[in-house]
Amino acid sequence: MPRFLVLVSKPLPLDGRDPAWATLRRIAEIRIRPASTRRTLGREPRLPRADAVVTLVADRVDEEFLERAARVKVISNFAVGFNNINVTAASRRGVLVCNTPDVLTNATAELTIGLLLAAARRFKEGAELIRAARFRGLEPDLLLGAELSGARIGVIGAGRIGSAVARKAEALGMEVIAITRSRGCLEDLLRASDFVSLHCPLTAETRGLMGARQFALMKPGAVLVNTSRGELIDERALVASLRNGRLSAAALDVFCGEPRLRAELRQNPRVFVLPHLGSATHPARAGMARLALRAITDVLTGRPPSNRVI
Ligand code: 8YV
Repeated sequence: MPRFLVLVSKPLPLDGRDPAWATLRRIAEIRIRPASTRRTLGREPRLPRADAVVTLVADRVDEEFLERAARVKVISNFAVGFNNINVTAASRRGVLVCNTPDVLTNATAELTIGLLLAAARRFKEGAELIRAARFRGLEPDLLLGAELSGARIGVIGAGRIGSAVARKAEALGMEVIAITRSRGCLEDLLRASDFVSLHCPLTAETRGLMGARQFALMKPGAVLVNTSRGELIDERALVASLRNGRLSAAALDVFCGEPRLRAELRQNPRVFVLPHLGSATHPARAGMARLALRAITDVLTGRPPSNRVI
């Protein structure tokens, strides 16, 4: 069996004794870049010698990357989304691209429910009162919010995660409207929903899906939640819609140009933002790491990987 070289973008949260490591180690040398590395993966000196790479969503895999990664046979993305990878260019060069679906569906859907509650019940403003030692005792009208039960949620993107969110929202007593890109009218959903939650992949069609026109259609006082990709939202339009009261709040796990969040969103007490934590649970991230390593083992041993996106 040849000795392959596998390059891992950053340390993965999977126990070193997990069989997924041992299985891959039987055929390959695994080089894991330190968490502190500042160099982009595309500029990594070992990239031209690598047979496979584990990438993160922050790693941009473009023509230039693929040009340097001349020996790479498989790119295993540690995420279900793969908008960071130019899949057409990879496919043209015969490079397989794999992702890590399913294992993170529940974690991301649970976080979405957390964000709905955070926005509806004003967690950020409440936490800030406590942090600043400005809580003076219970007041009958302190930080009143909305209830999820009885409210209507519009789920945009009824794939694995969107459908899981819909099921959990129903269990909380919410009425659900869900659309996919091909079916259902976005405008009707926006007009009818008290909460709107985004679950689409980022593509040329979904970039800027929520802009000034869409916000203007939303119910006055509606809430927007995003656990998919920041670029689905035109953030200037979001800031304006919060300012003019069309939206009462937003809760975002993702935003444009991560990790730098625009000041108007960071400072807005009605905008609750998390640092891309959708899949950040122990079981989800371990499952993602196993899938990412298994895909590489499969490709390097001549088997078809189960999570191939192209
Ligand atoms: C990942 C995500 O955890 O899977 C995705 O598409 O956005 C997250 O679940 C994150 O991107 C880490 O790679």
